[in-house]
Amino acid sequence: MTNPTLSGKTALVTGASSGLGVDFARELAGMGCNLVLVARREDLLKQVQAELLQRDVKVSIVTLDLGAAEAPQALHDLLKLQGLAVDVLINNAGFGLFGRDLDLPWAKTRQMLQLNMLALTELTRLFAHDMVKRGSGYIMQIASTGAYQPTPTYAAYAATKAYVLSYGEALNYELRGTGVSCTVISPGVTATEFLAVSGQKPTWYHRLTLMSSAEVARAGLRKMLARRSSAVIGWMNWLAAFSIRFTPRPLATTLGYELMKNE
Ligand SMILES: NC(=O)c1ccc[n+]([C@@H]2O[C@H](COP(=O)([O-])OP(=O)(O)OC[C@H]3O[C@@H](n4cnc5c(N)ncnc54)[C@H](OP(=O)(O)O)[C@@H]3O)[C@@H](O)[C@H]2O)c1
Repeated sequence: MTNPTLSGKTALVTGASSGLGVDFARELAGMGCNLVLVARREDLLKQVQAELLQRDVKVSIVTLDLGAAEAPQALHDLLKLQGLAVDVLINNAGFGLFGRDLDLPWAKTRQMLQLNMLALTELTRLFAHDMVKRGSGYIMQIASTGAYQPTPTYAAYAATKAYVLSYGEALNYELRGTGVSCTVISPGVTATEFLAVSGQKPTWYHRLTLMSSAEVARAGLRKMLARRSSAVIGWMNWLAAFSIRFTPRPLATTLGYELMKNE
């Protein structure tokens, strides 16, 4: 159903070739929002574009490795050149690496830190400046329930998401009164390509709490439109993130390990 708030506006969705990004794009298209979709795999982006053009919205794709240091600025420059104003930024591109931190190749870890934190921050700053000038806009950051506790076997990944949560909540506060909001959503285990990319087999905890990317995207967009500062998606995930506040950190760390370990 079209949404009067977003109908005719333009949303930039990063990581829109699979998983959550595709479902954010589908939901936004259903609200009548035009789209700019970014990822590295052009063939998949073209498939999503072809599907969403049926919805009577404009859909453009940009094939780009956001892990390259110059990519966020290049993307901003490109959209400016095309005269496109971004009303909604969905900072979704990201990946995790499963394993003992010292066993993971530094080059991969470095790429993850670059994409999950630096690219996200630079894109936010670039597009938030434009939104503040126009006096309106929505930014959504994708963190994770891993943001709420240290997670051995996802040590650096969970730390990137703790950064996203803290940065996003603080930025949302700084944006008060500008007409622009920044909402951090924290999904738990979601059926996407995430595990295949991170190199982890599903655990009993994954099977118990698994959500579809469509339901996560729908719930996340509702929180964004309500201009919430942050939200954990799914009641079991919310309960886990909430109860961890009352758990001593060494115990929370052990729990993080127990829930994620592959035997
Ligand atoms: N699935 C979960 O359980 C879960 C839970 C909590 C949070 N999250 C977060 O949700 C977000 C979306 O992940 P997902 O679960 O949907 O996984 P996914 O299916 O693997 O999707 C990741 C997306 O990011 C894109 N991407 C990866 N590296 C990129 C790069 N260097 N430049 C541009 N795009 C890049 C991928 O496209 P290309 O490969 O085509 O570039 C893909 O479209 C991530 O931030 C993830 O950390 C996922």
